[in-house]
Amino acid sequence: MTHAIPTPGSVALVTGGTGGFGRALTTKLRERGVTVVLADLDSERNRGVAADLGAQFVVLDVTDRAANRAVVAQVEAEHGRLDAAFLNAGIAGSSRDVLDVDEFLRVVGVDLLGVVYGTEAAMPALRRAGGGAIVVTASLAGLSPMATDPGYSVAKGGAVAFVRSLAPRLVEDGITMTAICPGFADTAIIDPIRGEFEAAGFPVLTAEEVADAMVGAWASGEPGAAYVIQPGVGALPYKFKGVPSAKTASGETAVVPPALRPPSLR
Ligand SMILES: NC(=O)c1ccc[n+]([C@@H]2O[C@H](COP(=O)([O-])OP(=O)(O)OC[C@H]3O[C@@H](n4cnc5c(N)ncnc54)[C@H](O)[C@@H]3O)[C@@H](O)[C@H]2O)c1
Repeated sequence: MTHAIPTPGSVALVTGGTGGFGRALTTKLRERGVTVVLADLDSERNRGVAADLGAQFVVLDVTDRAANRAVVAQVEAEHGRLDAAFLNAGIAGSSRDVLDVDEFLRVVGVDLLGVVYGTEAAMPALRRAGGGAIVVTASLAGLSPMATDPGYSVAKGGAVAFVRSLAPRLVEDGITMTAICPGFADTAIIDPIRGEFEAAGFPVLTAEEVADAMVGAWASGEPGAAYVIQPGVGALPYKFKGVPSAKTASGETAVVPPALRPPSLR
């Protein structure tokens, strides 16, 4: 029995699951009969959020590599399978310095390495389930530079590159790996800058709009796609411009050696 799409009885893990996107996503998945496990930092508030949503809560700091594996093992032990991993935990920087390297490393640790560790942990479980989905919450800041938060842009850009690099290798296992790249959305992460948007009349997404795109990425995502989500636009796969190809001495377009290509293009 494979659950490559959100059907009743599927099991989903959502990191950073008690935050704005995680809560909206959980509501939509629960409506479809999906068993949802919310993994987040330990607090009374976070445990209460999960209980109110009818979801299980597990403690996870995504920067702890071994803890990511332990959480996936717990999900498989308690629910028998894992069908989708939403690697969604994230923080933004708040420093006013041009470059605050301590903060940069903190943000990259959560927003990029957390995704790498989550992927490492989820892949074998998804294979054992006969396939499934990994949906990474990146950001528009991964496609477009963010002058006020370089660590965030690097982490999210890295997450997009990670998804695009790995996704073709996972297709043969029936695993669809995608990224979502929302613009600014109304969750706690924009609390420090919400006033700026309001003063400027700048539209922000609702968490529900983003959650719809997350469900869509599981249900029908194209491997390696990075879905941009913007107010008034909806979710669209970002069109990456190709890079210039190398030329041989005779001016022919050089072809990348087979061993360096994804299996499907060898
Ligand atoms: N809201 C936006 O404007 C926006 C836009 C684009 C992308 N994103 C991304 O969406 C994701 C979800 O954010 P949100 O908007 O729901 O904000 P949020 O602050 O409501 O949720 C983030 C969640 O991540 C959790 N978290 C933080 N550090 C963690 C760690 N080390 N281990 C485990 N959990 C941790 C927090 O406890 C929180 O529940 C983040 O990756 C964020 O970068 C947000």
